[in-house]
Amino acid sequence: MRAFQILLLSFFPLLIQSSYAFDNSEEISTRNLIIGCSVCHGVSGEAVGEMPALNGYNESQLIKKMKWFAKSPENGAVMHFIAKGYSETDLAKIAKFYAKKP
Ligand code: HEC
Repeated sequence: MRAFQILLLSFFPLLIQSSYAFDNSEEISTRNLIIGCSVCHGVSGEAVGEMPALNGYNESQLIKKMKWFAKSPENGAVMHFIAKGYSETDLAKIAKFYAKKP
């Protein structure tokens, strides 16, 4: 019985840790995606220098704009190549992040 209790207790921190990691993985992956944008658009999308602001950008509009950029090299000086390579899930996370920023 004692051995069982020790075994159970030794797994407990692992259980807490793994559920903690799971709870935050969505937020972490969003943060990682946003890092790529923040260099030019600011940490919260508030814009850096001449760059357009993304904070408060309507979710569906941002997704639409990213897809439009990706369509042709003529659509933007830099955004046409940046916009490529994001999955629908990535774009949804990015759009949700900026829509929530004041
Ligand atoms: C190297 C700098 C740079 C990075 C990094 C960057 N952008 Fe941009 N972004 C620009 C520039 C410059 C424009 C203006 C269009 C153009 O010239 O490509 C722009 C325009 C936009 C626009 C249109 C804004 C408007 O209202 O006109 C959106 C939306 C956008 N970027 C989203 C993003 C997202 C999302 C990311 C990250 C995945 C990102 N950008 C990363 C430089 C950047």
